[in-house]
This record gives sequence, structure tokens and C-alpha cells, in this order.
Amino acid sequence: MATRRRTLLKVIVLGDSGVGKTSLMNQYVHKKFSLQYKATIGADFVTKELQIGDKLVTLQIWDTAGQERFQSLGAAFYRGADCCALVYDVNVLKSFDSLENWHEEFLKQASPSDPKTFPFIVLGNKVDIDGGSSRAVSEKKAADWCASNGNIPYFETSAKEDYNVDDAFFTIAKTALANE
Ligand code: GTP
Ligand code: MG
Repeated sequence: MATRRRTLLKVIVLGDSGVGKTSLMNQYVHKKFSLQYKATIGADFVTKELQIGDKLVTLQIWDTAGQERFQSLGAAFYRGADCCALVYDVNVLKSFDSLENWHEEFLKQASPSDPKTFPFIVLGNKVDIDGGSSRAVSEKKAADWCASNGNIPYFETSAKEDYNVDDAFFTIAKTALANE
């Protein structure tokens, strides 16, 4: 029998405070959602095992603090990342405008060998709110930003309703694997 090497993939989740980073991860890994907000302090990770093709993959997903006063991550933390997920809230324009900064900050800190091809993914979360009538960012606007920043894959999600969460993280895993 062929020996199988288990692949560990490190994913870093970034985005403004309150956009739903922790909620997306909880929904993905534990199938749980709470409306109560508890700010993430520092960073912590969860893992999930996945089968991708004939590969067994351990996805190590790092949740980070959006609130500035709780951010205490140095460059060493970002290094070795295989993918970076950028999250915003489709109802909050400022969280979308911040993507530029998070993207830049990640590249500065992680300094990947090829910044142009390093895999990112963007998640526009909370599409469930008001059935979409309180949206501040259209799907097209987000997709255009992703296209002009190196064709970043884009997903619209709801951690609350478990919409597109599995698909988004599966794409994250595939993208990370391709970069490994
Ligand atoms: P920080 O840890 O401060 O960076 O915030 P975060 O990005 O981890 O946000 P968190 O997951 O804690 O969610 C913030 C609030 O938004 C919580 O009250 C969640 O219940 C709520 N929330 C998260 N995702 C969704 C969603 O998809 N839909 C709705 N309606 N609420 C959501
Ligand atoms: Mg959090």
C-alpha cells in the first residue's frame, strides 16, 4: 500500500471586527451559530480534515482579531500561510473598503515568494440580513475588486444560514493545496 502523507494547510482569516470571521469558522467546523458577539482576542486556530481528490488534508484555520487593540500578531505568525481569506460584511461599506488594507498588510507581513500569485479568497458575509435589502456593496462591485486584484475567487456567504460556507472553505482548501 502506498504511504500517504498528510498535508497541513495553514489558512489565515482576516477582516474588520464584526464581519463574521469567527462565526464562519464555527459554522464550518462545528455547525454552530450564535447571534451573540464576542470579540476575538489575539488569534486561535481550528482544524478540519478534508479529502481533496486522493489527498487527505488538514486545514488549519487561523481566526484573528478584527479589533485593532486585540491585534498582536507579528510577521512570524503570517509566514508559512498557504492561503489568506479576506472577509467583509456586505451590509457595511467600510468593511469592504478595508479589504485593500488587509490585503496589503498580509502581503507585507507574510512576504510570500510571489505576492502576485499568492492565493487569496474573499468572502462577502451576512447576505441573509433583511433579505439583501440593506446591502451596501453589490456583488458586482466586490467581484470587480477581486478581478482587479489578481482574479481572487469571491463567495457570498451567510454564517447564520450556513449559506455557501462549505463551498467557500472547500475552495480555500483547494487553493491552499495548489499553493503548497
Ligand atoms: P472580531 O472577532 O471582533 O474580529 O469579529 P468577527 O469578524 O469574528 O465577527 P463574529 O463572528 O464575532 O460576528 C459578529 C456578529 O455578527 C455576531 O453577533 C454574529 O452573530 C453576527 N454574524 C456573523 N455572521 C453572520 C451572518 O452571516 N448573518 C448574520 N445575520 N449575522 C452574523
Ligand atoms: Mg472573531
